[in-house]
Amino acid sequence: MYLQRRNRILRSNAAIRSMVAETTLTPSDFIAPLFIDEGANYQFEIPSMKGYYRYSLDLTIKEVKELWSLGIKSVLLFVKAPDNVKDNTGKEAWNKDGLMQRSIKAIKDAVPEMVVMTDVALDPYSIYGHDGIVENGEIINDGTVEALVKMSVSHAEAGADFVAPSDMMDGRIGAIRAALEQNNFTKVGIMAYSAKYASCFYGPFRDALDSAPGFGDKKTYQMNYANRIEAIKETLMDIEEGADIVMVKPAMAYLDIIREIKNAVNVPVSAYHVSGEYAMIKAAAQMGWLDENKAIIESLTSIKRAGADLIATYFAKDAVKLLG
Ligand code: PBG
Repeated sequence: MYLQRRNRILRSNAAIRSMVAETTLTPSDFIAPLFIDEGANYQFEIPSMKGYYRYSLDLTIKEVKELWSLGIKSVLLFVKAPDNVKDNTGKEAWNKDGLMQRSIKAIKDAVPEMVVMTDVALDPYSIYGHDGIVENGEIINDGTVEALVKMSVSHAEAGADFVAPSDMMDGRIGAIRAALEQNNFTKVGIMAYSAKYASCFYGPFRDALDSAPGFGDKKTYQMNYANRIEAIKETLMDIEEGADIVMVKPAMAYLDIIREIKNAVNVPVSAYHVSGEYAMIKAAAQMGWLDENKAIIESLTSIKRAGADLIATYFAKDAVKLLG
């Protein structure tokens, strides 16, 4: 048989395959989400996220040091607020002595170069488990934006490098950017969850923070997963309003959206490989149905290949160890 071109030449051994690989993962691709709780020397394994923990602040610091030593450059902070501080204003979110604010300071003190990003949304502080303020059974937009602005400024005061609004209210990026400017936080960035879908894949996360919505769902603010053009609209608006990094969330069921957005924008694109995506791999591996390590690397590579410059993932540490 005579062939003019033999594509298999480029796949013939490991050395050649790695030479022509179009996508490679590196530790600085990853953002490690961290769940922080009150207490000391306390750790709690999240039942639906085997191998992933909520740590007290002292253990969180240990974890951050390890992540930095592995080459991971960024953490994304979430805190579990105790029930007695939850209300419908979310005011604990901008308490300067709140767990989030103390955590930001302690992490920046311990590992100053670690890029600290913070989740900005009211759900951990809301008695209703919603990302915003509730009035007459509805999640109101403009009042919520005012709260998110206070929350963002408070994170900046504590030393956050990036605030990451994950709430999907209208106009919040512009409002947060203006407030950061007015308060002279000119070096604080915004990583906007721009295309955040109303997804069942957040289930385990809500276990981790005990933040499941008390009534209804999040479909009046998070996007309908049937939509693609809307993701571009949201993302372009966030960039206009001042987002430095934009995000697509979840990741693996939304690889098409990641690619569309990568092609449409000129800012870094991140993707959030969410709790349910973590849980699926863990569960299948536990049953012996998937090779966990291979599934981790293949998943993360596919997210990067789709166009993500950054990937927030609960597998950050595992991935870096696997990459060797
Ligand atoms: C809160 C928030 C959620 C996640 C990140 N920030 C949950 C939600 O919107 O209900 C999900 C992360 C994950 O599932 O890993 N606004």
